[in-house]
Amino acid sequence: MTKDSQQRAAGAAAALLVENDTIVGLGTGATASYFILALVERVKTEGLRIKAIPTSKRSDQLAEAGGIELTSFAKTRRVDLTVDGADQIQRGTLHLVKGLGGALLREKIVAAASDRLVIIAESAKLVDRLGGPIPVPVEVVRFGWETTAARLAAFGCEPKLRWPKDGNEPLVTELGNYILDCAFPPILDPAKLEQDLSHTVGVVESGLFIGMADMAIVGTSKGVETLTLKTG
Ligand code: 5RP
Repeated sequence: MTKDSQQRAAGAAAALLVENDTIVGLGTGATASYFILALVERVKTEGLRIKAIPTSKRSDQLAEAGGIELTSFAKTRRVDLTVDGADQIQRGTLHLVKGLGGALLREKIVAAASDRLVIIAESAKLVDRLGGPIPVPVEVVRFGWETTAARLAAFGCEPKLRWPKDGNEPLVTELGNYILDCAFPPILDPAKLEQDLSHTVGVVESGLFIGMADMAIVGTSKGVETLTLKTG
């Protein structure tokens, strides 16, 4: 199976977990888009009754165009189930790196409000150690970002300000901040690093999601594999 078909299979499998009369968090990225499209299909063919809270404008538009009813934290404080992608999933712990798609802050707020967080991905995202070739995205306040970057570098990474593919200005997130992509060597203690990053002045949130995922549905060459904290 190609990466694309693994992502599609994981998204379709996750859509089957969604139950009637629930509030669903919609993740961001290519894999989450497959999940949203599979949910749209269930809404259209089965009349599935859900309300959704998207984690980005992209997911918002995809869901709305497909006829999924949206809600917001002005109306509800909790989400039953969120399904989202990830950039790395640590085997065993299900700790995550997220945010290469730039939506990590909304994603973390929605995940934190959710009873269950299910992660969907292709098999290449499964790793023994987070970090290494994939940087940890860190969302920072724009003012004084240079000083925040220097403080982050002291934790042993090389922070790089993110730029859009085309453009003369640094990328500004939907919530108005910058992202520093912090390349670390393989991370030995992700929980400690997440604490260090989140206590750094100027940091809004990091892309390390520690102890948040309940399950990962991973597309593999042999089909879909489900990992829980027990099976890792
Ligand atoms: C966006 C994210 C995405 O979930 C992550 O980047 C995975 O995306 P994709 O499914 O396109 O590989 O964290 O902020």
